[in-house]
Amino acid sequence: MTLGAFVGAVMAARRISSLLARSLPAPSGCSSLLLSRGKNPGSRRSINRFSTAAAAAALEKLVTPPVQVCYTQHLINGQFVDSASGKTFPAYDPRTAEVIANVAEGEVEDIDRAVAAARKAFDEGPWPKMTPYERCRILLRFADLVEKHSEELAALETWNNGKPYEQALHSEIPSLARLFRYYAGWADKIHGLTVPADGNYHMQILHEPIGVAGQIIPWNFPLILFAWKVGPALACGNTVVLKSAEQTPLTALYAAKLLHEAGLPPGVLNVISGYGPTAGAALASHMNVDKLSFTGSTQTGKIVLELAARSNLKAVTLELGGKSPFIICEDADIDEAVEAAHFALFFNQGQCCCAGSRTYVHERIYDEFLEKAKARAMKRVVGDPFKKGVEQGPQIDVEQFEKILRYIRLGVESNATLECGGERFGSKGFFIQPTVFSNVQDDMPIAQDEIFGPVQSILKFKDLDEVIRRANATTYGLAAGVYTKNIDTANTLTRALRAGTVWVNCYDVFDAAIPFGGYKMSGIGREKGIYSLNGYLQVKAVVTPLRNPAWL
Ligand code: NAI
Ligand code: MG
Repeated sequence: MTLGAFVGAVMAARRISSLLARSLPAPSGCSSLLLSRGKNPGSRRSINRFSTAAAAAALEKLVTPPVQVCYTQHLINGQFVDSASGKTFPAYDPRTAEVIANVAEGEVEDIDRAVAAARKAFDEGPWPKMTPYERCRILLRFADLVEKHSEELAALETWNNGKPYEQALHSEIPSLARLFRYYAGWADKIHGLTVPADGNYHMQILHEPIGVAGQIIPWNFPLILFAWKVGPALACGNTVVLKSAEQTPLTALYAAKLLHEAGLPPGVLNVISGYGPTAGAALASHMNVDKLSFTGSTQTGKIVLELAARSNLKAVTLELGGKSPFIICEDADIDEAVEAAHFALFFNQGQCCCAGSRTYVHERIYDEFLEKAKARAMKRVVGDPFKKGVEQGPQIDVEQFEKILRYIRLGVESNATLECGGERFGSKGFFIQPTVFSNVQDDMPIAQDEIFGPVQSILKFKDLDEVIRRANATTYGLAAGVYTKNIDTANTLTRALRAGTVWVNCYDVFDAAIPFGGYKMSGIGREKGIYSLNGYLQVKAVVTPLRNPAWL
């Protein structure tokens, strides 16, 4: 499967009346954010080993990002402001490890200010009091603005995250707009129930916004996760304090600025940049936050759940890690399955919570599959993510880069066969060669832990019962993939696999309307679709006597 399979068409951007523009003027120099484009298509290689010279050439003359950084302060109560401490921290370009910009560093006091603004906007402000239709229209206008500014948003995302520009522009930014349109559609369709009672009582069940939502997002899909969290929270009438990941603070600020331009009142969405143990922990443990939504590692998920419990027992939803099995049955179309399994693992530099990171292949097709999977990985185009045709950019930071190389060493030490890759790609930034291991056993660290990098582990299986047992023998349960032409095999596997999403003969197909989340230690709750709404609503029962009801 190629990226094109799930790329949405970018719709023509619509001009928004300047009357709607809010009080967040662009700093001088930012009126025209698009600068001239770089050239240079990425180089394709078809050799048997990765060559140092090819890597050096691929990373030569990096494209100057065609965008300027305009927003680096926190966004609190509709204003861009410095940190209370005046501190800043660097946001890096993972292609070079050079600093892109210094960004305000939020700590306890900044979180306090943001929560106070969100609280006021909820308790006194216009947001929950607006008609749902007015809220719907603001979210729709934001989606239009996202399309109008898609190139700036995509360029910032690529610069700070390292993901291919084409992926950001043609898939992720359209998804951001689509998600907001989907939830705009819900804003005026959230209603309660009237239920029959055992006596003369009128029983209503109201669905109300929960209050101030605290949201903590990671760095692998900064704008998509912004959409998954902010979209449903605002549609339900909540106010929000969002803490972005310290690695990728830039696009959440830009998107939040566009939401204000679309008409969002001050205080409804506040964005704080900063580190987890300081800003993140302050948000998770805040007494005035009513709900916490977190995406990130299972380890940090446990910490924030505990902080929520120890403070005010705020409601918590968690979307955490995974070690998803991808099962290729003997009747699968091998070429198609090779491509799908490659995409399932290597997409987004392997930095996906739902990466298909345990590739189980039936023994009868194992040898052919392995040769083809290896050849495909060898052909993967690594390079400057701004260049056309590049499939794989750098990993996010030095911590992840070293973690991945450590797991590759562990794979070799535990006697898995290193088929290709295994080393750094080039000599600058955080690039890693596409890596394939065969002869992987279930008890090896590379088959158990989330590596979060471009490392494919291929395992052999004999029959369905065995592969079901092995696929489920993990503490995670986020996703799974199945390749087969047999409907009965597909039905058996989809029912047996303990995972929040099972893709059959495809992988990583997302939609605003389908829920995403995990079994077991992959999380609590679901995001997207109607399932996200439950997490942002309170349920209130209202009972009034019915005096002399005429119809009884
Ligand atoms: P992390 O889970 O520590 O960070 C994610 C978010 O949580 C960031 O915004 C961070 O600032 C915040 N955070 C960290 N510590 C916190 C604390 N004590 N209290 C409140 N918030 C806190 O993930 P990290 O360290 O960036 O990556 C480590 C591993 O986590 C990765 O190698 C990968 O295996 C996994 N991961 C999974 C993701 C997913 O999509 N499920 C996303 C990112 C990482
Ligand atoms: Mg961490």
